[in-house]
Amino acid sequence: MTEPILSVTDLTKSYGRTVAVDDVSFEVENGEFFSFLGPSGCGKTTTLRMIAGLETPTSGSIEMNGEDLTAVPLHERDVSMVFQTFALFPNKTVGENVGFGLKMDRVPKAERRERVAEYLDLVDMPGFEDRDPTNLSGGQQQRVALARALITEPSILLLDEPLSSLDLKLRKNMRFELKRIQDELDTTFIYVTHDQDEALSMSDRIMLLNAGEREQVGTPQELYSRPASEFAADFIGDTNLFRGAVARTNGSTASVELRGLSTALESVRNPIGAREGDSVVLSVRPEHIDVSTASSGQVVGQVETVTFYGNSTRLLVDVDGERVLVEVGGREGAVSLERNQSVHLQFDSDRAALLEA
Ligand SMILES: Nc1ncnc2c1ncn2[C@@H]1O[C@H](COP(=O)(O)OP(=O)(O)OP(=O)(O)O)[C@@H](O)[C@H]1O
Ligand SMILES: [Mg+2]
Repeated sequence: MTEPILSVTDLTKSYGRTVAVDDVSFEVENGEFFSFLGPSGCGKTTTLRMIAGLETPTSGSIEMNGEDLTAVPLHERDVSMVFQTFALFPNKTVGENVGFGLKMDRVPKAERRERVAEYLDLVDMPGFEDRDPTNLSGGQQQRVALARALITEPSILLLDEPLSSLDLKLRKNMRFELKRIQDELDTTFIYVTHDQDEALSMSDRIMLLNAGEREQVGTPQELYSRPASEFAADFIGDTNLFRGAVARTNGSTASVELRGLSTALESVRNPIGAREGDSVVLSVRPEHIDVSTASSGQVVGQVETVTFYGNSTRLLVDVDGERVLVEVGGREGAVSLERNQSVHLQFDSDRAALLEA
């Protein structure tokens, strides 16, 4: 194992009685695209600002390449930050904005001009040197901000919701752009977002935060298919959360009776070591429930709503008063199902996630 570029241990930040960040530990590998994901107020920005040196931790440590950052002032940290609002200098040209960090470092003018051109190229804005940044679109301004942050070649780039003020279409394009730029430079990115799609589509790994605490760290696939808590299952993607009780255990699996649905799921993976009689929650993704009109399946329900999404169709099915969300994708999505129609549902036990109640 190579040494992580960043090691954060037991990091805590309190503002009076508010504990904004509560005993959080994680490591970031060199070259990783690492995201902090979580709802508003969960401590994402505060954690990022402590790494940047804009906030002082109440306790805990931050090490970069094995060196404690506590006593290192912000301008000496080998990091740059991109903020949610563009924060470009309005009275300087695009070129002067991008070259600002180099000027501070007293890089000679000719070299500065060359590097500015190179970084404007990188963000796909060649020839924009003499433009006035206030006349650029939001997406272009954010590209300039990115070039300005990257030109000093920081080891870590910190990004705090950099796309949140852009419209959806542009935001989606910029996701690919950010990934491309990160791949090209091989810089470590730490990316803050409350948007799960953004985190899932861009990150190598994600740290999910909840009320200042670390909830789970993993790859997007791990967080989606192996959520460690009800919060994680619910926050990432859409899911059905069924209350239930363990009827039997058998080695590493459990048989779980679902309370509201009066059915049981056999051979559910049991990573939490639940025992017979334990109350549990079972997370079943909508795409892991098969729907059919034939008389096979675990439970019968009535279709309440049918919503067409283009590449999939979602059904809300009433099963004995419980609402079950089902997704039918691809070609099967074209199957015509109607309101009030009776359908049989079959749950995929292998892909259900057993969680502590
Ligand atoms: N300077 C401050 N003084 C007092 N409380 C603060 C301060 N900064 C942040 N907080 C509080 O700390 C908590 C975490 O705030 P933070 O800005 O880190 O959340 P966030 O996850 O970035 O949220 P958002 O998605 O809304 O940006 C919140 O309860 C917030 O009100
Ligand atoms: Mg924030």
